[in-house]
Order: sequence, then C-alpha cells, then structure tokens
Amino acid sequence: MQQEIKKLAGQRKAIILAHNYQPPQIQDIADLCGDSLELSRKAAQTDAEVIVFCGVHFMAETASILSPDKKVLLPRQDAGCLMADMITAECLKAKIDDLPPMPVVTYVNSTAEVKALSTICCTSANVVQVVNTLDSNEMLLTPDRNLAMYAASQTGKKIHIWDGYCPTHEWLKPEDVQKAKAAHPNAIFIAHPECRPEILQLADSIASTSGMLRMAAKSDADEFIVGTENGLLYPLQKANPGKTFYPASEKMICKNMKKISLSDVLHCLESLEGEVKVDEKIRRPALKAVERMLETI
Ligand code: 13P
Ligand code: SF4
Repeated sequence: MQQEIKKLAGQRKAIILAHNYQPPQIQDIADLCGDSLELSRKAAQTDAEVIVFCGVHFMAETASILSPDKKVLLPRQDAGCLMADMITAECLKAKIDDLPPMPVVTYVNSTAEVKALSTICCTSANVVQVVNTLDSNEMLLTPDRNLAMYAASQTGKKIHIWDGYCPTHEWLKPEDVQKAKAAHPNAIFIAHPECRPEILQLADSIASTSGMLRMAAKSDADEFIVGTENGLLYPLQKANPGKTFYPASEKMICKNMKKISLSDVLHCLESLEGEVKVDEKIRRPALKAVERMLETI
C-alpha cells in the first residue's frame, strides 16, 4: 500500500506532510515530517497541486490559509485537536472586549476563526521569539495556558492567559517524571512547553517536537526521557539508533493524532475527498497573523 500511495501521489502532483506524532507507517510514506512550524513553512512553499496533511484539522486549515489555490486534504475529517476546541471566536471576542487594547498571540493549535482575531500566531518552536518581537510588554496568549506561562517565564512580559491546555501533555505529572528518572538515572529529561510548569521545572531541555529531534542528535547523552506525545519516540529512535528513548509516561497518547491509516491516505488520494478550505473572509485576517509569524521568525 505504501508503494501504491507514493505512485498515486506522484500522479496527483501531491505532497504528503506528516506531523512528528503520526503513526510510524504514515511518517514512513511522508515527503516531510516535522513540527507545526516546519510543516506550515513547507505548506507555504511547495509547488505541489495537492497537499495531503497527515495531522489534525487545524494543521490542514493552516496549510489552506497559506496555500488557498492548492487542494488541501485531511485524510480523516474527525482528526481534531482538543486544545483547539477550548476556544471559540465568540469567547475570544468577549475576552478582547474585556481587556485594555493589547496584542493577541495565538498558538497555531487553534481554528482559523480564532487566528483571524489575532495579532500574530506562534508555535511551540518560536513562542519566545514571537513574544519578544512585539513592542508591547503586555499581551493575551491563547489558547494554551502552559505555553503562555512558559513564554512569561522566559520573557518577563505580562501575559494574560487563556485557560486551555492539551490533555495529552497535561496528564504528565511530576511523580511520573520522578519515577522515570529513578528508573533511568543517566537519562536527560526533555519536555514540550505544552507540559505543566512543574514539569518544565524538572526538564533539562524544553523544545518543540523537531527541537527535541535536533537536541537529541546533538547531545552527548545516550538516554532520554521524553515528555511529549509518544509518537515522537519513533523518529527519535530512527534518527538515533545508538541512543535510547523512554516515554515520560505511557499515557501520553493523542488519539486524534493516531486516527489516520494508510488506507485513509490512499482513499483520499484516489477520491480527492476530505478537502479543508477556509472561507476568504476568515482566511485573509488569519493569513495576516500566520504570515506575521513566518516573517518575524
Ligand atoms: P510541535 O510539533 O509544533 O511541537 O506541536 C506539538 C503539538 O501538540 C501539535 O499538536
Ligand atoms: Fe491537540 Fe494535544 Fe493532540 Fe497536539 S497532542 S493535536 S495539542 S490534543
């Protein structure tokens, strides 16, 4: 099936993008695997006619915001993001009306409608730089409270928090990390900024998924405890066969990231069904926020 997919993708002039949390067999057929920032850059630059996005809905939406003339396909329409669902445009409008005027920084893990109300977007790879780029010392950062607290701790700026979070990362507790550290005393603990602040305090390094891949390749350490969705263990182990990676908790699995199968990818290339398209009225302001992020970083 992998060969069939590659052949059909060539005929359709399609590129297959996969997030680092996708199942191994999906990562193996992708033209590019990456974190949210790398995938949005690629979606903006590719000359393919079709983008098959193996990830979750907001990622396909971001690709469509950046490449409105391309057909962006999400092989499973029900692959959503629980954090992105924790904020709506209506609630954000009400919050903006409540606060004095200030920039709104929105994590890409959000809907196009929410991006459209925002000053600038960020990802876990560039949140600190995005916050530092803004002239203002006060801002609202949505929807991830953990990412917002992390950005505040790194920049010293006053950041108003939206009470959203990623359940997969929120599940990780200090006891889990302590248990893993006791079992693997020589391992370095790497954590994603979607984890709780008390977890980040225990981390030797904090990074996006691709940041973790770069860090593990460069590091002199041989063992790592990985504080993010467990799908990342596959590319970590594949790129570093001489090193060992342990999940910080077996529970760190995002069900939405595991929905897409090879037959879903094949079906979507055959039928060209599953298009994700953003209405122009929403796309234009959302594009400004995404482009501003891509231009500054
Ligand atoms: P990054 O790969 O950008 O670090 O994103 C993590 C994530 O939770 C995506 O859903
Ligand atoms: Fe959303 Fe968390 Fe799943 Fe990423 S891992 S898609 S932030 S629920």
